[in-house]
Amino acid sequence: MRANREFLARAVRYLASACGIRQFLDIGTGLPTASNTHEVAQAVAPDSRIVYVDNDPIVLTHARALLTSTPEGATDYIDADLRDTSAILRSAQRTLDFSQPVALMLLIVLHMIPDTDDPYGIVSQLMEELPRGSYLVLAHPAPSIDGEDRVRMLGMSDRALSFGVMAEAYERFRPGYPVELFDMVMAYAGQPVRTALEIGAGTGKATRLFAQRGVTVTATEPDGAMIAELVKHVPAHVKTVQAAFEDLRPGESYGLVYAAAALHWTNPEGRWSRMAALLEPGGVFASFGGPAQLADPAVEEAVRAARAPFLESDEVSSPDGTPSGHDMQWPGTELQRSKWVADVQQFVIERRLTMSARDYVGHLSTVSAYLELPASEQEQVYSQIMQVLPETVEVTADITVHLARRRSEQ
Ligand SMILES: C[S@@+](CC[C@H](N)C(=O)[O-])C[C@H]1O[C@@H](n2cnc3c(N)ncnc32)[C@H](O)[C@@H]1O
Repeated sequence: MRANREFLARAVRYLASACGIRQFLDIGTGLPTASNTHEVAQAVAPDSRIVYVDNDPIVLTHARALLTSTPEGATDYIDADLRDTSAILRSAQRTLDFSQPVALMLLIVLHMIPDTDDPYGIVSQLMEELPRGSYLVLAHPAPSIDGEDRVRMLGMSDRALSFGVMAEAYERFRPGYPVELFDMVMAYAGQPVRTALEIGAGTGKATRLFAQRGVTVTATEPDGAMIAELVKHVPAHVKTVQAAFEDLRPGESYGLVYAAAALHWTNPEGRWSRMAALLEPGGVFASFGGPAQLADPAVEEAVRAARAPFLESDEVSSPDGTPSGHDMQWPGTELQRSKWVADVQQFVIERRLTMSARDYVGHLSTVSAYLELPASEQEQVYSQIMQVLPETVEVTADITVHLARRRSEQ
């Protein structure tokens, strides 16, 4: 329940700040608690308008707590059943302007609608009435095997799976990968690469790089929310598999196996034998990525100070402890020790980006160290950082590339 409330606050804050949403239709409101939709939304934009809908008489008796709007905004409460979509849509228009985008919120409520009452139809009817640019926020209880137990079973940290919550922001704020990188991998391969398996594909930023240039990519990713975002952006021929690297079973082998900003999340145990089993003899392994760092040391220092009360550092430390000054960085160091591969190489593609302060903070909101903070602290740290940033910032986003070749004789 707490996680759901935190998710609600995070989703509303994101919609209000990054997407400019000012209208919310929150169905299945539940009892008022500390951070209700209107409080979170109006903290970002006081003119936000919120309509709550519930059919529980107990919620109705507490509805007054939901009607404490700012003077600039508005809140309303409708006593209605989710199945009664036309009554909801009619009454909601007392407060909401349906010519402007609305975020429809259905959090932990749809499971109460049996299939015979057509939950898909209900969601479609509601969405159809909302204008272009509207959003749907949906949270659904899942069997525990898909939740914490699964994370524990796979030895995966919560941090590794924190990205899915922000899949859309991830897609929007993280930079993609340049053609130069594709050319570098192909030159190293020295022969045409027809098939590739991607580990931790996320929203498909690196999937696109290869799939749009004739490689048949199988994109694997453990997080369903990331895959849902990925399929919107990759060519239709990309095959997606919802799986952690540790879940992949040897079967098909590929000319290229690659991981973009994802290898450090995988379990080190058996990493390279698993990788080798997925590669054709002579096939190429590639891992690439790198942090986005503020180029101006004065701005960097101001951000470090603003962040300090909440987070000491937002960096992911080297998995095998290789110091940052070392010539060969991780995973090159690990590849050099592995009997499965040869010809380990490291390259750096230099990159300088200019971002608006807002986009930079949007980018931070996809970084795992921030995603792990409680929702209220995230809000504070972003606003503190925002205050010390100039209008635009220069960011160094160099990509470190590691390449290795599967030995034929093993
Ligand atoms: C920083 S994101 C990188 C996404 C994408 N490759 C990119 O470069 O934009 C890391 C991704 O690794 C995934 N991940 C976490 N643990 C994993 C595991 N054990 N196996 C495979 N992927 C994992 C996360 O779900 C997330 O999508």
